Amino acid sequence: MVEKTPEIEILFASADIAKRNEELAEQIAADLGPDILVIAVLKGSFVFAADLIRALHHAGVQPQIDFMALSSYGDKSVSSGTVVITRDIVDTVKGRKVLLIDDILESGRTMDFATKELLDRGAETVKTCLMLDKKGKRINDFEADFVGFDCPDLFVIGYGLDYAHYYRELPYIGYIVEN
Ligand code: IMP
Ligand code: MG
Repeated sequence: MVEKTPEIEILFASADIAKRNEELAEQIAADLGPDILVIAVLKGSFVFAADLIRALHHAGVQPQIDFMALSSYGDKSVSSGTVVITRDIVDTVKGRKVLLIDDILESGRTMDFATKELLDRGAETVKTCLMLDKKGKRINDFEADFVGFDCPDLFVIGYGLDYAHYYRELPYIGYIVEN
């Protein structure tokens, strides 16, 4: 257990996130249509994905949902770090319009790997939706199709994002203020 909740500066309040999710869902519906396969990348995107699929419902989309866990090995500062699948999807992606959902885009390695992998398996299209985008941290030219918010270069927590496996339950996104 963490001894006490630290002081957290809120960057994105839950009402702002909820509003943005509805906007994202409208964009996604307009682009992909009603018949899509959502693949949520675990663990970080599960809260965002759970809210986004309900926003997608409001936007007239009837998604099927699957999950994939990905892990990045090696030193994060070294560009040769490789991504591996630690839990694969159950559904087939062949011929499907896939919406890949993740929490935060940083180096771009995770999304670049997953997108290529799903296209290799025969997905018709793979579009990516990221809750947050740390643009300054990219090591490749990967760009997300849909982004919730641009994120400052801070270690953020909450709304699914963890620090040492804690704080995923926070209903907002923020950062720990060091005293
Ligand atoms: P990348 O784009 O391959 O570097 O992957 C980014 C991954 O690193 C995300 O899916 C998160 O799991 C993790 N991550 C990056 N920045 C943060 C942060 O600020 N807070 C929590 N997790 C982060
Ligand atoms: Mg992650």
